[in-house]
Amino acid sequence: MASDSETAATSVAQRHRETAASVLPDHQQLYIDGAWHDSNSGATFETANPTTGETLATIPAGGADDVDDAVRAASRAFESWRAESPASRQRTLETIADRIQNDLDRFARLDVLDNGKPLTEARGDAYLAAEHFRYFAGLIRGHEGERVPTDGSRRVETLKEPYGVVGAIIPWNFPLLMAAWKLAPALAAGNTVVLKPAEQTPLSALLLMETIDDVLDNGVVNLVTGFGPDAGEPLTKHPDVAKLAFTGSTAIGKQVMKNAADTVTDVTLELGGKNPIIVHPDADLETAVRSTTIAIFYNTGECCSAGSRLFVHESIEEQFIDQLTAAAESLTIGDPLDDDTQLGAKVSDEQRERTLSYVDAARNSGATILTGGGVPDKPALSNGCFVEPTVISDIDHDHEAVQEEIFGPVLEVFSWSEYDEMIELANDVDYGLASGIMTSDIDRAYETAHDLEAGTVWVNQYNDFPAGMPFGGYKQSGIGRERGKETLDAYTQTKSIDISL
Ligand code: NAI
Ligand code: MG
Repeated sequence: MASDSETAATSVAQRHRETAASVLPDHQQLYIDGAWHDSNSGATFETANPTTGETLATIPAGGADDVDDAVRAASRAFESWRAESPASRQRTLETIADRIQNDLDRFARLDVLDNGKPLTEARGDAYLAAEHFRYFAGLIRGHEGERVPTDGSRRVETLKEPYGVVGAIIPWNFPLLMAAWKLAPALAAGNTVVLKPAEQTPLSALLLMETIDDVLDNGVVNLVTGFGPDAGEPLTKHPDVAKLAFTGSTAIGKQVMKNAADTVTDVTLELGGKNPIIVHPDADLETAVRSTTIAIFYNTGECCSAGSRLFVHESIEEQFIDQLTAAAESLTIGDPLDDDTQLGAKVSDEQRERTLSYVDAARNSGATILTGGGVPDKPALSNGCFVEPTVISDIDHDHEAVQEEIFGPVLEVFSWSEYDEMIELANDVDYGLASGIMTSDIDRAYETAHDLEAGTVWVNQYNDFPAGMPFGGYKQSGIGRERGKETLDAYTQTKSIDISL
């Protein structure tokens, strides 16, 4: 007879299989030059459902020759795509946004299956993906060159021209949204694209290709699925790729930049983070606790922007920690297809083990695990990659669990009394992506915002991404800014024309 645990897990698996049957893309192949292909080598790989441990789909493992085919197709498509008027590209991007919006629930469910994130969050991702295409559709109409003042003997003007073929490599934490972050500005600016999704979560990018197949001419967007070293690296070395945009680990980002150096290719890099949250003594406790909960537990902590180091003023430390651990313990961990699930599965066994190994290292060094620290004891989740929301204190700031990006639902707390010492510690990591400040005093907020080495500062909130707000890293968190007006500059190059009068 099956145990309770097996029965509960079996019914979750059954539900996921049924959902898969209705949301999986019809085409599960490479998308090159507007057509679906197997890889040249015939190699394939499986993408798993991290909630159930079952295989979702088997798709081609692309290699260098597939990347080459895709780059060729993108190069051919470039001449006509760049020649389209900004108005025409605007309409195309708006159509893409509409298509995503119309199929929002399917995109969301697919990312739930492939990534393990809660459905409510996946719906948010799909909405933001559509929004992203709309934002750049509007922005491109105002992306103008300049007329440079001269002594009158010449006329000097500048044009913003697309690079050509963009190589875009994206991670698994926001599969659809990261595709949109790269595709929308690249296409708006008149580039064509070869996109390499993460091997853990290729499915929503495949569905996107299927959904927009008739919207774009052949070759304007191409998709090569596969592993990083086989399908990603050739893109970073290809002589006909004129611009690289990468989101992922700092280690691979450095590799991308090194490869780009050989062909003097421009790079946008959005890498890791180990982001501080500063709680001032005058913070509204409820707001601060809620914001911190969103900062570290949203998307199961699989956010480069996750607020993972908390600096709380000693005068309110006890109250704050009590409320925070209570909030962590009250989060609903469950089947991510459930509407009320707040914490889903991590993307893979590998990522779950990685998170737990950091927690073990902290524990072994004498740190206190205030809450969590293990896997949830729920029969229905026994085959999934779940980790409890975890809060750690009494840990040295030099510890690897504090210095390195864990990418899981793990927060480390420190108390402070001297402002300058706290700021020094808050900035004492290699990263500088995001940060949070909790205070009721606007002058204090600005002072701390000024003192933090971070590309984004959220005040009395966290993980908010309004359209147009530039996002990117200081220090080793990256190069360049995505999501904003300046992003179009990163996908164009300036041509100066100097005419003798
Ligand atoms: P990763 O950096 O290896 O993967 C990101 C993307 O790069 C994937 O599409 C992958 O296939 C590709 N890639 C891998 N090796 C490549 C290579 N040699 N050349 C070109 N492309 C390559 O990240 P991974 O291994 O999945 O996760 C490891 C850690 O990285 C995570 O635990 C997390 O700390 C961090 N990470 C940070 C992200 C962010 O948003 N900043 C996203 C994903 C991971
Ligand atoms: Mg998967």
